[in-house]
Amino acid sequence: INWFPGHMKKTRELIQKNLKLVDVVYEIIDSRIPLSSRNPEIDKLIGDKPRIVVMNKSDLSDTNINKEWINYFNKKGINTLLIDAIKNKGISELVKQTEIVIKEKKERQLDRGIKNKPIRAMIVGVPNVGKSTLINSLSRRKSAKTGDKPGVTKGKQWIKLKGNIQLLDTPGILWPKFEEQEVARNLAFTGAIKDEIMDIETLALKLVEKLIKIAPFKLEKRYDIEIKEKSALEVMEKIALKRGAILKGAEIDYTRVANIILDEFRSGIIGNITLERPS
Ligand code: GTP
Repeated sequence: INWFPGHMKKTRELIQKNLKLVDVVYEIIDSRIPLSSRNPEIDKLIGDKPRIVVMNKSDLSDTNINKEWINYFNKKGINTLLIDAIKNKGISELVKQTEIVIKEKKERQLDRGIKNKPIRAMIVGVPNVGKSTLINSLSRRKSAKTGDKPGVTKGKQWIKLKGNIQLLDTPGILWPKFEEQEVARNLAFTGAIKDEIMDIETLALKLVEKLIKIAPFKLEKRYDIEIKEKSALEVMEKIALKRGAILKGAEIDYTRVANIILDEFRSGIIGNITLERPS
């Protein structure tokens, strides 16, 4: 996805329009990269609308670092929870937290004699964090899209959750902050942006460099190698040897080993790894 200023303006306007319809916003982020998968302007965009940060892909991230991030957000006064959108894990916690963040509004409604008014929510987030997956699992439909055909009313579709919550079935797509190299790399490591930002061999090498720092034992265990005092390139070559990524003439097949490493990181096979810590 290329985020031109025109795109940003359009999606921002759409989100602002939908914001008016809801009581609470679910900001979905990727729990492996909680900073890089956040939109830098999100606070300004949402304003004082109650919000819950939903850390998705918890099946892939590091359990201990998840706790650090939850603390980090809680200290900022933001309610936060972990989910796995594929397995639909964490939804009852989402319902519980929703009831907490909109408690005051509910009380005001009760004072005015309004009872049982549904709580309305919408999902926002940068590409690839799992917005559609969550919406589809919650609605138990294969597609979250309706009303494309002429003649079909293009009314808003709401998905019923427990606790009298209704979720808007179209997510708000935000843009990530590509300008910072570290952010762009993290997004590329997790597969959120196309591998084209750099060649795949360099991308995998940079990932290995990072994994040597943050998760050396997981790397050693997965590939049955020792990484002590080895450079990232040497580690990559060791992995290539172990996995038979070798060309004719005993040359290393860097493209193949790069693909192996990236695929196995992205699918969690190397282990539950979080690339960013609060600091
Ligand atoms: P855009 O449509 O680009 O805005 O992306 P999105 O935020 O709607 O993400 P989408 O639901 O398309 O998911 C992106 C990828 O992440 C897909 O391959 C999903 O299968 C995967 N995914 C989503 N949620 C989870 C999760 O909780 N765990 C794992 N392992 N993968 C997930």
